[in-house]
Amino acid sequence: MLQEFDARNAEIKVWIGQGLVSRKDAKVSVFDSSVQGGDAVWEGLRVYEQGIFCLDKHLDRLQDSAQAMDFVEIPPRSFIKNAIKQTLLVNGMRKDTHIRLTLTRGEKVTSGMDPRLNQSGPLLIVLAEWKPPVYDNTKGIRIMTSAIRRNSPMHLDSKIHHTNLINNILAKIQSNYAGVDSALMLDNLGFIAEMNGTNIFMVKNKELITPTADACLHGITRALVIKLARENSIPVIERNVSLTELYAADEAFGTGSMGELTPITEVDGRTILNRSNSKLTHHLIDLFNESHHRWSVEINDL
Ligand SMILES: Cc1ncc(COP(=O)(O)O)c(C=O)c1O
Repeated sequence: MLQEFDARNAEIKVWIGQGLVSRKDAKVSVFDSSVQGGDAVWEGLRVYEQGIFCLDKHLDRLQDSAQAMDFVEIPPRSFIKNAIKQTLLVNGMRKDTHIRLTLTRGEKVTSGMDPRLNQSGPLLIVLAEWKPPVYDNTKGIRIMTSAIRRNSPMHLDSKIHHTNLINNILAKIQSNYAGVDSALMLDNLGFIAEMNGTNIFMVKNKELITPTADACLHGITRALVIKLARENSIPVIERNVSLTELYAADEAFGTGSMGELTPITEVDGRTILNRSNSKLTHHLIDLFNESHHRWSVEINDL
């Protein structure tokens, strides 16, 4: 599914560094670390009528990623929250909004990899856009297995939510050529890791199964789905999952802030949907939608 330009985003204001600028002026320096080496960390958050969803969980992960990358002078949480609040208020955004929060290592005094060339601290970007969930979650998506492997901690730990997304982008390109919506990525042992932009779950005999978070992002939506399932007495197992098992699944779905819970209807040309009418998936979608108020922070409370 290709996202389209939303005319409501033509005149938005974007937070860069210390303040808000108009979309056309929202730029970073050619010396910025994100340009030089994809040297930045990020989060994608959703704003519902009830507020910003799982804000502190996203800020925890942003901070962990920045620390793992040895960023100096990570902005205090109060500063980031205020930047988010100001950005949403100035744009009048209180629902149907996606926030792309990026923290780059900042500007370098000269081009190069060495973080010691960064002498002015990290750069915060709050890009809030009108953007309903990107997939049609009533219809679902078709996926294919990519030849590109998801990073294990052996190479570049997928638990760092960094902007060096080339392996996921290469996988996405494969799925584009294959004419499907998303790419399924395996880990270095050949087990399922996740899709190029979302985590994955399958259902077999009324049991929910998801790959262990070894070679995938430890998704916040993934964690909430596990929690909701346990609260509602739905058995959940985190373990290695092979492609063979997915082919024989009763149901499968992806999870992520961008698309929420998205049924998977086809894997590598094989139909998944309809084996059990996606009953459990839709039950979890309902539970997830009903739970927005539990984990959302009101904009005015920031
Ligand atoms: C590769 C990847 N997997 C999964 C996710 C979903 O994570 P979350 O549920 O925290 O949005 C994301 C979101 O950024 C992602 O980039």
